[in-house]
Parts: sequence; structure tokens; C-alpha cells
Amino acid sequence: MTTETTQSKTERSIEEVFNPASDAYCQNPMPQCRALAERGPMVFYPPWQAWVMTDIGDIMDCWRREYLSSDFYDWEFAPQKPNEDDWGNFEKALIGHSLVADHSHHRLIRKVVSPAFSRNVVDEIQRRIEPDIDKLLASLGEPASFDYIKQVAEHIPFITITRMIGIPEKYWDEIKPLIENFTETWNPTISEERREEVRQQCNHAIDLIKLVIAERRTSPEQDDFLSTMLELEAANPDFTEWDIITLILALIGAGADTTLMAQQWSVYALVKNPDQRDAALATPESFSNAFTEILRWSMNSKMGFARYAPEDMEVLGQQVTKGQLVLLMPHLDKMDPERFPNPEVLDVSRNFDPDILFGYGPRYCIGAAMAKRQLYLTITKLFERFPNLTLAEEPVRDNSNHNSICLKELRLQTNIG
Ligand code: HEM
Repeated sequence: MTTETTQSKTERSIEEVFNPASDAYCQNPMPQCRALAERGPMVFYPPWQAWVMTDIGDIMDCWRREYLSSDFYDWEFAPQKPNEDDWGNFEKALIGHSLVADHSHHRLIRKVVSPAFSRNVVDEIQRRIEPDIDKLLASLGEPASFDYIKQVAEHIPFITITRMIGIPEKYWDEIKPLIENFTETWNPTISEERREEVRQQCNHAIDLIKLVIAERRTSPEQDDFLSTMLELEAANPDFTEWDIITLILALIGAGADTTLMAQQWSVYALVKNPDQRDAALATPESFSNAFTEILRWSMNSKMGFARYAPEDMEVLGQQVTKGQLVLLMPHLDKMDPERFPNPEVLDVSRNFDPDILFGYGPRYCIGAAMAKRQLYLTITKLFERFPNLTLAEEPVRDNSNHNSICLKELRLQTNIG
């Protein structure tokens, strides 16, 4: 690169070199992510009124030490926190959320609930979702081609979450809108009308979750997540029914969109790179590594993970004021050729050390084992049913989601017969 080009690059405003809402970013985020990372470890990004933390070492340190807040209501632009006497279900679920609560309560909850995410529980959930996935794939029939997103991927978060929690099928129709829309309540950019609509759905769904819990109390021995939660509640005075409800909502909020995204990019990556398929799907362990590589290669992230300054403070040499948003963006270096030689090549044997796809430290993804198992299961079954899958056409990218690049459709050719 010539000195002149370097100079003209640094003179350009940050919004000119990095704009994840742009079509250029959607088509190829790599140059923009690298240009942002080159601006330094802590960069102010005016369009978001936010700081961006760019370096993986700094991000891990922030994850580990938790010197920033995870509470949305600590954000300078958060809506006014209503008076506690006026809280409805929705406010209790969002404001009193056990996973965004202060660090000490968060740690207590994580410790208490860890048995509910043990290997045995994940095995049991797999046993429960397997027939649903078989049914879903069988319902495709023998088509020449189909859209993987509409016909398969969109159903998976719902199947997993309802089976995982143990929500009886009679409530599925009512709970469905919540699972599909709940993540939106955490999106600061939605309109007031839409927030109100989601709030109503959320209130209704929380009543339903309470009903499911009340029913389960009368027959607790069901060897699922909810039964485990009720045992934990009985054994831990600091763990209440509200903790169970907010945890369920957290699983829905954190597990629905991520699963949908993971499904579409994983299948796309393996159909596009058939030479990587066998190695990726050889065992659940090999898939675990392959999944990190797939999400590196697909580069679908836009924003990263939100934190808020709890007070005026200096962070990585910059003065950050109380309430400012700090975005941790570990994806910026995913295409750095010094870390990942030939970064545009999907190579599922790459070594990730550290592997931070699911975060790090006290807030490491609670659903990581579940997410990987469910993906492995669906994708192996997909290729068993249709061993000769190819892309029917190159998918069109969709830039409408504020957090990640999606595919509008993923049309697959079955090549049957
Ligand atoms: C499929 C791919 C997934 C990826 C890549 C992923 C990644 C992550 C990451 C990076 C974090 C840390 C966020 C932060 O530091 O702010 C996180 C947290 C979390 N994830 Fe996941 N996740 C996935 C799926 C799931 C699923 C399926 C569930 C639930 C069933 C889930 C539940 C959660 C919860 C509850 C948290 C918050 C944990 C806490 O604050 O203690 N995730 N996830």
C-alpha cells in the first residue's frame, strides 16, 4: 500500500470506511472490518454513539473482569426505568432479568442453574428433539429443490426451545409469537408501536409460562429443564420463580436468532464447500471446531456485544462517560491473514486458540453445548436424507437485520434420482 493511499484512508471519516448498513458491507464485510480495526483498540463510532473495542485480547479481558455493565438500563439512551410499583410482567422480565442483573446475582444464578445445562440434560434434549427434526425433514417429501431457511431452519429454534424447556404441545400455538419476536424487545431501534405490540405478546406469554410452571409443580418428575429448575428453586432460597421465568426468556432471547443464523450459514458453508463436509460432520467434536470456522468464514456479524460504562472512566486510553455504549466486536479480525492464512478459504481443520465464538468468562454462552448439539443433529440428518445436496442458486444476502447479515433464501437442489 502506498503512503498516499494510507494517508487518504486515515483522513476519511470513520463512517466512510465502516458502515454495516451499506450494501458494500453486506456483500463483503472484510475490508470494512479491517479498516475499523486499524483505527485503534477503542474507536468512537458516531452513527451508533458508541465506542467499539476492536482487539481480541482487550475484549477477552473485558469479558473476564466485567468492568463494564451488561444492564441495558445503564445505557445513556435507555427508556426511563419505570417505578417498581408499576412493573408488569414485561418490565419484571426485562428489568429484573437475572442474567443482566448485577454481577453477584448473575454469578449466583449461573452457579445454581449449571446442572440444567449438563451433558446429561443436553443428551436428554437431543433425544426429545430428534423425532421433531425427523418429522420436519420427512415433511419435505421428495422435492427437486427447497428453501432450507423457510422449510427447515425457521422451525428449529421453536422446536429446540419448547422441547428444552418442556412446554407442552397444547401451548405451542400461543407461545410461538413470543419465541419469534422476543429478541426484538432488546433492539433499541424498533418503533414505540412495535415495542408496545411485542410487550403485549410478552405479557401474555409470561402468563402462559407461569401456567406451565404451576402445572409442572403438580407433576415435577419429568426429567427436563423445567423440572430441574423447580428442584433448584426448592433447594436455593435465593433462586425464585421469577429467576426461572427470566431465565426462560433469556434462553428464548439469546437462543432463537442465533440458532436461525447458525443453521443457514452452516448449511450454506457445507453445500458451497463439499470437500469440507465429511471432516466437519465426522463427530460432534469435529463439528464443534468446524462451526467456529463456519462462523468465521461467513463473517455475518455487524454489531457485536453491548456493554455500558457504569461511571466516567478511562478505557484503553480513551475517556468514556457514564452510560456510553461500548460494543465488543471480536469478529473484526476474523479475516486477518496474519491470524488466519488464506482467510477466504473455509478450512474446518483450523485451530482456534482461543475459541471465543461463544464468549468467554462469567457470561460465556449458557446454551453453547445445546446449540452445537442441535446444529450437528439437524445437519447430519439433512445430509443423510439428501446426500447429494447442491446450491440451486447463489443466495441473495439480506441486510435488513441490524445485527447480522442473513440470507434471503437458501434454495437447495436435492438431485434425487
Ligand atoms: C447458535 C449459536 C450461538 C452463539 C454463536 C452464541 C454466542 C453467545 C455469546 C458470544 C454470548 C456472550 C454474549 C456477551 O458476552 O454479551 C452468549 C450468551 C448467551 N447465550 Fe448464546 N450463542 C448461541 C446460541 C445460544 C442458544 C441456542 C442459547 C439457549 C438455548 C443461548 C443462550 C445464551 C444465554 C442465556 C446467554 C447469556 C449468558 C449470561 O449472560 O450469563 N445461546 N451466547
